[in-house]
Amino acid sequence: MEEKHLLEVTDLNIEFHDHLIPETVVFDFDLILDEGEIVGLVGESGSGKSMSALAIAGLLSRKDMKKRGEILFEGKDLLTCERSELRKIQGNDISVIFQEPMTSLNPVMKVGWQVEESLRIHTNLTKEERYAKAIAMLEDVELDNPEKVYNQYPHELSGGMRQRVMIAAAMICAPKILIADEPTTALDVTIQAQIVDLLKRLNKEKKTSILFISHDLSLIRQICQRVLVMKGGYIVESGPTEQIFNHPKEEYTKKLISAIPKVEPGAKFRKKG
Ligand SMILES: Nc1ncnc2c1ncn2[C@@H]1O[C@H](COP(=O)(O)OP(=O)(O)OP(=O)(O)O)[C@@H](O)[C@H]1O
Ligand SMILES: [Mg+2]
Repeated sequence: MEEKHLLEVTDLNIEFHDHLIPETVVFDFDLILDEGEIVGLVGESGSGKSMSALAIAGLLSRKDMKKRGEILFEGKDLLTCERSELRKIQGNDISVIFQEPMTSLNPVMKVGWQVEESLRIHTNLTKEERYAKAIAMLEDVELDNPEKVYNQYPHELSGGMRQRVMIAAAMICAPKILIADEPTTALDVTIQAQIVDLLKRLNKEKKTSILFISHDLSLIRQICQRVLVMKGGYIVESGPTEQIFNHPKEEYTKKLISAIPKVEPGAKFRKKG
């Protein structure tokens, strides 16, 4: 019998049909994600990273979009399974966090309510149990004074705190997969490093697999075991992170790597080329 993967995407194609001429934005996308792995997805703007991620999260359900291929989660095809089955998986087994938490968090709802959302959908916990879980989760993402944060609105928090809240909301049902679409791009460097450390810790402690999307190759190198490089809707190269960084095959990957600013400890900023 063939080995089962946690997530196995095969030949995923995503096509828009909202114009006269259909437009394919993702071609033959393949991805395997096993328990506890962090896999990186890099590539220039518009290369299809978010579309692929949204498809896996089951968030591309528009009628005018065609998806072909297979997205097998624990052997179940998310493209063909019943809607009710998909809803059971979303936010429960597969969660997503985005770049700008302000756009994903509801500005008029208190943080606690939003962190508890997946619990309301996926569990029968009582109000008190949900509260206890939410507080524990806010603590787990290293927010000081979780009881206070619980009762605050998103605009009362800093960008870094909001991203922690997003992570808390995404992780509250202990998903098997977290899709992180540029989760730190909008944050300054120090906060970015903290959020990355947090994701790494959660991955280790809870064995949550992460699909980590980023423009930032040095970040990808720090945390991902494997990398997929996308360009123009295609995966042009993929493999273990160190192999890709040390022996890139594709010209495009070489270009991306040579564009990383070289900062060595104790050294002055040196521009390549
Ligand atoms: N409604 C639409 N109709 C046609 N094409 C679309 C539509 N929405 C998005 N696209 C195209 O899909 C392609 C892939 O977009 P996607 O958001 O996945 O890129 P990305 O790699 O995530 O880029 P970024 O790094 O900027 O986030 C882009 O070329 C985009 O123009
Ligand atoms: Mg994107």
